[in-house]
Amino acid sequence: MTVTTIETGMQAIEKTLRDIVDSDVEVLREASQHIISSGGKRVRPRLALLAYLAAGGEDLATAVPMAAALEMVHTATLVHDDINDHSLTRRGKVTVHARWGNTFALLTGDYLFTKVYELMAPYGTPYNGIMSDACIRLVEGETLQAAAAKAGRMDRETYKTIIAKKTASLFEAGADMGARLAGADDKIIAALTAYAYNLGLTFQIVDDILDIIGDPETMGKPVGADVAQGRGITAAQNGKITPDHADGGVATAVAPADPVQQMMEQLRSSGAVEIARMQAIETADRARAALEILPPSPARDELTNLIELVLNRDK
Ligand code: IPE
Ligand code: IPE
Ligand code: MG
Ligand code: MG
Repeated sequence: MTVTTIETGMQAIEKTLRDIVDSDVEVLREASQHIISSGGKRVRPRLALLAYLAAGGEDLATAVPMAAALEMVHTATLVHDDINDHSLTRRGKVTVHARWGNTFALLTGDYLFTKVYELMAPYGTPYNGIMSDACIRLVEGETLQAAAAKAGRMDRETYKTIIAKKTASLFEAGADMGARLAGADDKIIAALTAYAYNLGLTFQIVDDILDIIGDPETMGKPVGADVAQGRGITAAQNGKITPDHADGGVATAVAPADPVQQMMEQLRSSGAVEIARMQAIETADRARAALEILPPSPARDELTNLIELVLNRDK
């Protein structure tokens, strides 16, 4: 059956995700279903499907397994990321490691990653190369981030490299593959990948802002984790926010204040959030400009709307 609307395509992706994690091994099946059924914004698969349509593709069924694979990569990395960050909530639910323990969470992440091979196998070249390249960059980004935070060297240049690798890479790959599956020419492919890359940068900068000013209830995940670990927009201060000077040295409370709260407060009053917001607006502008050469279509309009959704999101 031909799939032509984005919502039908997204429903097909949900089914693909649910069906593919049906392991006979109970803990893998349950932990996978737990994280997949917790929702999530599904930004990456939606972007891939929209890129396919905006590039002239006519049957979304062609792109559904690839888009589901993108979400699978993302989900696997979240399970592992939450172990590394010691996060207890994700998508408004308890994290996999908090419920099943680190061993099973590591294995669940591995299992989800392995499902990417299964989903991508039919596509062959160059699609598998594009996907593996994105995965490599993602893991490099997460590793560089951990190394920079550990060494206290989170400057702005390093931050830019990290967010390009850990987040923009997967967005870019989705648009690249979507456009290619639609049979687009090189100019259209380049425009859509430039759009997605800049959207990915915007997405991560906004995520890092929300770590400082967001509401954990709305986001379904903790705030303050990046500040506590010298990441995210602490880069504006070269990662050197410390609780010592966070309140200007004046004791204002009877009980000692939570050091992470103090650091968040300092970041809020330091102008770092405004600097990050300006960067997000700049990358969003680049994403918008990249779309200009595309022929007008409802999908192109939705890609434009996605920029505003990403910039103005609160979760
Ligand atoms: C969280 O991604 C990790 C980042 C790259 C910021 P999302 O914000 O897309 O997470 P879900 O899928 O909606 O939960
Ligand atoms: C995104 O980074 C994780 C990956 C790209 C794997 P974050 O650490 O900012 O994600 P959250 O904030 O935990 O969702
Ligand atoms: Mg995290
Ligand atoms: Mg984050």
